[in-house]
Amino acid sequence: MSLLPESSIIAAVVQAYSEKAKCGSNNDVQKVTESVGYSPTDLASIPAAAQLGLGCGSPVNAANLKEGEIVVDLGSGGGIDVLLSASKVGAEGQAIWIDASTDMIALARSNAAKKGLKPPHVAFVQASLAESLPIASNTVNCVLSNCVIKLLSQGGKATLLKEVYRILKPGGRIILDDVSGCFPDEPLQANLTPRAQILAKQPLPDEIRNDLTSYVNCISGSIQVEEYQQILQAADPQFLETKNDLRKVCSGVNGTCGVAPKPKFDVNTWVASYQIIAYKSTEIEDTADSTPVATLLRWWDAYPKVKSCPAVLAPEALANLIRGGSGEHHFAVVDVRRNDHAGGHVRGSDNWAAQTFYDDLPKFLEKYRNTSQVIFYCGSSAGRGPRCAGWYQDYLNEAGVTTSKSYVLEGGVKAWLAKYRAEEDLVDSD
Ligand SMILES: C[S@@+](CC[C@H](N)C(=O)[O-])C[C@H]1O[C@@H](n2cnc3c(N)ncnc32)[C@H](O)[C@@H]1O
Repeated sequence: MSLLPESSIIAAVVQAYSEKAKCGSNNDVQKVTESVGYSPTDLASIPAAAQLGLGCGSPVNAANLKEGEIVVDLGSGGGIDVLLSASKVGAEGQAIWIDASTDMIALARSNAAKKGLKPPHVAFVQASLAESLPIASNTVNCVLSNCVIKLLSQGGKATLLKEVYRILKPGGRIILDDVSGCFPDEPLQANLTPRAQILAKQPLPDEIRNDLTSYVNCISGSIQVEEYQQILQAADPQFLETKNDLRKVCSGVNGTCGVAPKPKFDVNTWVASYQIIAYKSTEIEDTADSTPVATLLRWWDAYPKVKSCPAVLAPEALANLIRGGSGEHHFAVVDVRRNDHAGGHVRGSDNWAAQTFYDDLPKFLEKYRNTSQVIFYCGSSAGRGPRCAGWYQDYLNEAGVTTSKSYVLEGGVKAWLAKYRAEEDLVDSD
């Protein structure tokens, strides 16, 4: 049982991997990636920057992904398994990245952009694996994880596997590999083979469990195979088939960020590498109706969090702008509703649906770059309006554009119609 508070473990681990995200890749790290089971052809199909040498297996190989399937990768790092999965599930399928690290999500997004991949085909969701997954129940065909589960506390592991069980469709599968810091100046061929998962050979003493350094190196959090099976069975007694490949692990050698700290003990005395594959029973009572459910609970989780906080514009101020009849480039009003826009809108609004707005930002900027006030709204300007306004302002800031500025219409169209419904110069009916 770990004596470290869970929040300290998570913060230390995520911080350590954020640092690794900034380290980049190199030939040696790419050799490590190949040595854990990825095919050179697969690796050549994704950006080198996605190969951080942080995995000790290649779960995608064992996943047997099919066109149209939905796959979720837990603790996805630079996105290696998400990018490979995306090509296997095809345009009709979906590959979802989940990780808590801000630097990893930035790296993974940039790797996906190099391949022209975007939501919904791939989605990058920044979330903690220690909390409920932001994924709808019974919607996922396959869950992957490569060198991550050991990083969670004992309770966190059990909670996560329950969540995995919840999100899987009946008959869905999990493929869990785990990774240690194995780098090229160790005898790779002897020590590191495909399909490796670190599990403890014998119970770990607290002095090892509580050594944060080794936690980050995926060792202290290791549990014994039997404990793993208990956790799986607690999630569901019908969670079928575990499969173990015992492998030696190594750590504490040269990586892209110099020398990783060597643990003070021989890791191979305590831990070994495994892969676990398990299936959710197909005999789950199907209580859901047949309406297709979106896999992400919140569509906006697939896009970056908004950083800026655009100013709010009162309806009276917008009415003055419209009635003032000032120049064409002075202001624009943007309705970001999609299917719920019946009942009227602000006269002269342009419609850009929030759900696709982030991907449309380049086009949007082209159109509004010289419009000094761009005023966004949705139903009550509490969700989609401010979000799109924030994304636009962030985009302007990143591009260094100062000729346009983002605003949110206070109270959205509801407040507008409540005030001006009878005034034809201010309202367009649908
Ligand atoms: C060893 S790396 C593996 C990365 C990737 N799976 C690969 O094979 O390259 C572990 C990843 O898990 C993420 N991670 C660790 N603990 C996490 C947590 N509690 N919640 C979300 N992500 C976590 C880290 O940010 C890191 O990207």
